[in-house]
Amino acid sequence: MKKWLHSWRLLSLFSAMAFLLAGCGKPFLSTLQPAGEVADKQYSLMLLSTAIMVLVVIVVTIIFVYVVIRFRQRKGQENKIPKQVEGNHKLEITWTVIPIILLIILAVPTVKAAFDLADVKPMNKEKRDKDTLVVNVRANLYWWEFEYPDYGVITSQDLVVPTNERVYFNVKASDVKHSFWIPAVGGKMDANTDNKNQFWLEFDQKDAEKAGGIFYGKCAELCGPSHALMDFKVKAVPREEFNQWIEKMKNAKPVVTDPVAKQGEAIFNKSCIGCHAVTPVDKRPEQARTAPNLGNFGDRERIAGVLEHNEENLKKWLKDPESVKPGNKMTGTYGQLTDEQIDALAKYLMSLKVE
Ligand code: CUA
Repeated sequence: MKKWLHSWRLLSLFSAMAFLLAGCGKPFLSTLQPAGEVADKQYSLMLLSTAIMVLVVIVVTIIFVYVVIRFRQRKGQENKIPKQVEGNHKLEITWTVIPIILLIILAVPTVKAAFDLADVKPMNKEKRDKDTLVVNVRANLYWWEFEYPDYGVITSQDLVVPTNERVYFNVKASDVKHSFWIPAVGGKMDANTDNKNQFWLEFDQKDAEKAGGIFYGKCAELCGPSHALMDFKVKAVPREEFNQWIEKMKNAKPVVTDPVAKQGEAIFNKSCIGCHAVTPVDKRPEQARTAPNLGNFGDRERIAGVLEHNEENLKKWLKDPESVKPGNKMTGTYGQLTDEQIDALAKYLMSLKVE
């Protein structure tokens, strides 16, 4: 009796935990709230495979319980042996054919989806259609670069894409292996150093509105101490808005009027510009682009990919990057700055905007 009570307690504890943890997923960060064609396909496959597995578990459990009860040892029949079925052809065929059928039901839509999701012909055409958007994604310890090769524009950390159309990606890494993942929209895609991987995603306008226009992106490959902080954001906007953004990016140049920001610019040009560009048009080869492009830094969603976007957090980041993102490549590259210098630098960086 005691044992039963104990198991029930354990069971209710587990159910309560499952119930609580199920509430943890933020909708904009969950594969269970698909927001686009790719995510929808992946989600249906998840449902299908889960349904098949649940069916198998239920059927096997029912048979198991039935057999345990039906063939249990009864008083007075201790020596009775039930009919033996070893080598029974009908049974052998039944339990071979059923799993084969289940696997076929699972395999056909999975293989079909795999081919659909790998269809990157439009991005590799000799001459690309004008409205086929290609983005080069480059993963670095611990930041993301997004280059729009057809427009000559580069940005970092915040990917901007048009909604309701296929966006094609070239994905690679410049140091170690990373993985490009926007949970609500699709992926993941490995970012490798020795080849580029291609795939496409579609960002649904209605879902984007529900998510406040922002989807969350993650690095999905353990890459170092700040792997879990290697976040990025996706701003999904209607095509027209996207075109306007690209135009603004093409023509963006820092215009500094504030005197404090001007001091900041001077510090920046002395200590930071070797790695960071401040115009979205950056003609240098990628090996020279060793740090995030800051062309529209003021418009960003986060500081260093993880902190809320405000001057306070920017100063904290500039003062001690290691406390925010352990193992980052910026720590120790610009010496010790005074509080005044950091204030000026923050003012300057926040003024870099295109919106
Ligand atoms: Cu990059 Cu994990």
